[in-house]
Amino acid sequence: MADIHAVEPTRRDFLYVATGAFAAVGVGAAVWPLIDQMNPDASVLALASIELDIGSVPVGQEITVKWRGKPVFVRHRTEEEIKAAEAVDISTLRDPQTDDARLVKGVDGKLHPEWLILIGICTHLGCVPLAYKGEYDGYFCPCHGSVYDTSGRIRQGPAPLNLPVPPYEFVSDTKIKIG
Ligand code: FES
Repeated sequence: MADIHAVEPTRRDFLYVATGAFAAVGVGAAVWPLIDQMNPDASVLALASIELDIGSVPVGQEITVKWRGKPVFVRHRTEEEIKAAEAVDISTLRDPQTDDARLVKGVDGKLHPEWLILIGICTHLGCVPLAYKGEYDGYFCPCHGSVYDTSGRIRQGPAPLNLPVPPYEFVSDTKIKIG
């Protein structure tokens, strides 16, 4: 059954505080892989899914929720963020993907580009990137300087791949099920 885990209506300030905490103990790069190993076995994980009501996330803000021990970013994108993501010539990208390819259709069968759902783990060495930071106002990973755009695609720095999109679906206009 779907099970709602800790939903943290994370503000940008909180992300900065959390990142400061990681930096203070000096373990940023290793945090998520280590936590992963402490999770339940794969057969339990395979069933884990969460349902989230995303309707209360204001435009221009993002929340972070936990799914299978990983941070998942739920970003309510502004028109400007969507336009910037769609305007990119994907032939210039390290991990070429259109913005549309990173979205799923709603219950009405249409894409809803205002919702961007990402696994918040840098594809370099696993730190948690900061939202609304970096040259593209998407995400910035402070560990080694990877920069992602407003579609979560890698644009600068050492990370090889875009931030992954978790498996998810819309179960109503404002509810998604992750996993
Ligand atoms: Fe190295 Fe993000 S973990 S840039």
